[in-house]
Amino acid sequence: MKFPETGRPRAEVMAQLKGFAAGDADWKRGRVPLYVFKATEEAAEVGKEAFNAYFTENALGAKRAFGSLKRMEDEVARMALDLFHAPEGAVGNMTTGGSESILMAVKAARDFARAQRGDSAHRGNLVLPSSAHPAFNKAALLMDLEVRRVPVTRDFLADPKAMAAAADKDTIMIVGSAPCFPYGAIDPIEALGEVAGSKNLWLHVDACVGGYVAPFVRDEGWPVPTFDFAVKTVSSLSADLHKFGFAPKPASTVFYRDEARKAGQTFSIDEWPNGRFVTETLTGTRAGGAVAAAWALMQTLGRNGYRQIARELMTMRDAYIAGIEAIPGFRVFGKPHLTLLGFGAADLDMARVAEGMANRGWVPGMLKDPPGLHLMMSLLHKDARPDYLRDLAASAAEVRTSAGKAKLEATYS
Ligand SMILES: Cc1ncc(COP(=O)(O)O)c(C=O)c1O
Repeated sequence: MKFPETGRPRAEVMAQLKGFAAGDADWKRGRVPLYVFKATEEAAEVGKEAFNAYFTENALGAKRAFGSLKRMEDEVARMALDLFHAPEGAVGNMTTGGSESILMAVKAARDFARAQRGDSAHRGNLVLPSSAHPAFNKAALLMDLEVRRVPVTRDFLADPKAMAAAADKDTIMIVGSAPCFPYGAIDPIEALGEVAGSKNLWLHVDACVGGYVAPFVRDEGWPVPTFDFAVKTVSSLSADLHKFGFAPKPASTVFYRDEARKAGQTFSIDEWPNGRFVTETLTGTRAGGAVAAAWALMQTLGRNGYRQIARELMTMRDAYIAGIEAIPGFRVFGKPHLTLLGFGAADLDMARVAEGMANRGWVPGMLKDPPGLHLMMSLLHKDARPDYLRDLAASAAEVRTSAGKAKLEATYS
């Protein structure tokens, strides 16, 4: 494609742009069980309005030019620290996503470990449950760390004993997820906290996907184990606003128990002509709109608003689980705590079932270990349940009664 010599009328371009979406998966009707989130229409409108109000402002300039963004980012962090039972002195900030929050926490842990050892070249390792997000591998690849993935238990939870055994003098971080993406279960953070306490290890809680909904799910009476700074040996925690905080992308948060632990996160570079360059993030320029929208959503929804959404989400999830398990042979893996889950039928080729769903207009979330399908559901998925369950039953019956080989493989992106 050539770079256009002359521009075209805006209306024509916009019509073409909007037309492109016709070929996309039908996410608005709940056909995509990952990537997209929605609570209420009202929450989506608040997010858009606040984002657009700060469309041009750059959060990189929050300190020097946009005091309003500085205020809102600080307030988002303080509201979240309150939600996550952080002690006095705990600190944190916004980033552009879960992967960046994790990257920052790993850097902070690495530099903390190096400072404690007095060894600026120390090469550490990360001890993760096998269910942890690939963002930890990304961090390890960028910072030349070793990754030790420890198999989860038969309940699909992090195994504190096995993780303790995998940790050694070079371990700079152990991780628990709240919840993990593949199975939707919150790892036993209290037991991991005991490991961290007894071995003096940095425990990071990856609450990227669930952090901003789990407290409200608990408020509404579904069981949610303690997963945050209430566990005294949690050093850091990541939680994404652009997932179940229902804020527009790109927005996440990362927090530390105290300033000393956060120190390694800060980049402070004074080696170029424009003077000292200081950021708390890997990114430079950041969307001011994302900060404003996250703030506006917390303020308009409040705990009662989030609780109402949590109740609706969990009621929907329970109905999905009942419907899935009513199909012969199908079982949900482990005990998911929120609206993410994996499921399968041991006697069926689940890749073929996924193919059947794809042929019926769904983007199937897939699991490799164990073979299964995956759902991460927001209120986009509420009305799709009867169609989903009908097509799942039909796809399963098709696989049961015909031979074939799946071409589809489990991929995330
Ligand atoms: C548990 C968990 N951690 C981290 C991430 C990474 O978040 P992001 O895609 O915003 O980088 C995800 C994304 O789904 C996740 O589920």
